Amino acid sequence: MGQSERPRRLRSNAVLRKMVRETRMDKSSLVYPMFVVEGKNIKEEISSMPGQFRYSPDRMGEKLEALSDMGVSSVMFFGIPKHKDEMGSMAYAQDGIVQRAFAKAKKEYPDLYLIGDVCMCEYTSHGHCGILCKGDVDNDRTLEFLAKTAVSQVQAGADMVAPSDMMDGRVAAIRSALDENGFFNVPVMAYSAKFASSFYGPFRDAAESAPAFGDRKTYQMDFHNRREALKEVFLDVKEGADIVMVKPAMAYGDLIREIKDSVNLPVASYSVSGEYSMVKAAAAAGYVEEKKIMCEMAVSAYRAGTDIYITYFAEELAECMDEGVIG
Ligand code: PBG
Repeated sequence: MGQSERPRRLRSNAVLRKMVRETRMDKSSLVYPMFVVEGKNIKEEISSMPGQFRYSPDRMGEKLEALSDMGVSSVMFFGIPKHKDEMGSMAYAQDGIVQRAFAKAKKEYPDLYLIGDVCMCEYTSHGHCGILCKGDVDNDRTLEFLAKTAVSQVQAGADMVAPSDMMDGRVAAIRSALDENGFFNVPVMAYSAKFASSFYGPFRDAAESAPAFGDRKTYQMDFHNRREALKEVFLDVKEGADIVMVKPAMAYGDLIREIKDSVNLPVASYSVSGEYSMVKAAAAAGYVEEKKIMCEMAVSAYRAGTDIYITYFAEELAECMDEGVIG
């Protein structure tokens, strides 16, 4: 009686609820991360990530076609080499696994947009993200190798590079190496606010990239820190990043929002392996409904300010967008 404020009015009808929806998503903002391995006729399931596979280049077309049929047109490649060494030499070899995958994908699927994760941890025998010196990653020495890696990926066919190593100065080093090679128009998507996170556990199994000793806390960020995330973002912007990223996504919505409000670049968030595997495991146990949880997680990332969402659920989310479940 006499109550004029009734928020429920706008929830009273499904058409109306959709009309007043504040967060809208589009398939063009989805990026699918994919693992490519050396060898032939390989499609092996990653045990810690049910439903995700490592593909050899001759088999990756299956997934690439399914993605593009579903309207997902961007993929990010992670290479898993047979040979790993101290210097991560297969990261920047022109016939390296990821370079071969880029070349093949570019040729056979010219409409796909190909992104290269630039890091050394999948390629080094010690599993760290750069070149070691006295038991720690040598920042400045690593820059040269990251730059070489980025250039080699672009030469092979990558349309964009995404450094995930967290070395200081890597964006500037990569930008100038790309420019020197004439790749002025290849964007850099920086993993700017990347935290030392246990959510990466299943990925390290997938990419065989767990550090052989120690952890990544001398280069990845301490997850207690918010202002430091902004510092990292501002540095990357100054160094020439075209897109900045927050990683992981799910537990870091505060930072996605803060960064979205603080910089005028597109903001990406990466819903990482642990987020995916937790949903899979809880759904398999019957505790949650996989599709609904997946959708709610994605919407929360977009609501926080995500422009580009990197997710192992890309194909499934695109389907949900088609069905009108979300979007
Ligand atoms: C490489 C890299 C990692 C991820 C993306 N790039 C692993 C790490 O930093 O340990 C994690 C992705 C995921 O967990 O899905 N440095």
